[in-house]
Amino acid sequence: MPQKPSSILIYVYSRSGHSRRVAEHLGNYLGVAPFEVTTCRYSWPVLSWITAARDGMRGRAVPLDQSLDLPEGGLVVLVGPVWAGGVGAPLNTLIDALANGEQDVAVLLTCDDPNELTASLHKIAERLRRPLKGKMVLSNGVQDTSEGHERIRAFAEALGVQVTAQ
Ligand SMILES: Cc1cc2nc3c(=O)[nH]c(=O)nc-3n(C[C@H](O)[C@H](O)[C@H](O)COP(=O)(O)O)c2cc1C
Repeated sequence: MPQKPSSILIYVYSRSGHSRRVAEHLGNYLGVAPFEVTTCRYSWPVLSWITAARDGMRGRAVPLDQSLDLPEGGLVVLVGPVWAGGVGAPLNTLIDALANGEQDVAVLLTCDDPNELTASLHKIAERLRRPLKGKMVLSNGVQDTSEGHERIRAFAEALGVQVTAQ
């Protein structure tokens, strides 16, 4: 039977709500409330979209509003958006903070284009300097459907964790 890792943390960054909803679903399956990180860098409505796209494309890490208290081991799941073929810049900050650690790290990205992806996931593993324990990309078109819920559940199960909700 799958064992629960000694600690499971879900970190989510969500600019417009998609990743937050996905993280909440995932949290139900893993029995953990997601911890949401924010940044004041993208508060301007139009200009911030351009800034975000540029940051995503350049793989930039940005200051977060929260200080991070990362566990030394266990499982850390990052949930957030694809930005311009890269990942949402706040995720890069989390990845950098985890890069010298020994945690198992899994990533669930949300995006518009379901064909998006492998590139972003590959960049994350490189930046993290170790293979990902789990990875998935979920397009916004399916995230609130039964298929989307099933895929999130399968992602949770593939992490070796006994899921706690239907
Ligand atoms: C600046 C920016 C760049 C984006 N670039 C992409 C992209 O390259 N490919 C894609 O499929 N979706 C892209 N999207 C769409 C988001 O990845 C998608 O809507 C995601 O679910 C948003 O997550 P959130 O609501 O949690 O912020 C982009 C969105 C933004 C704001």
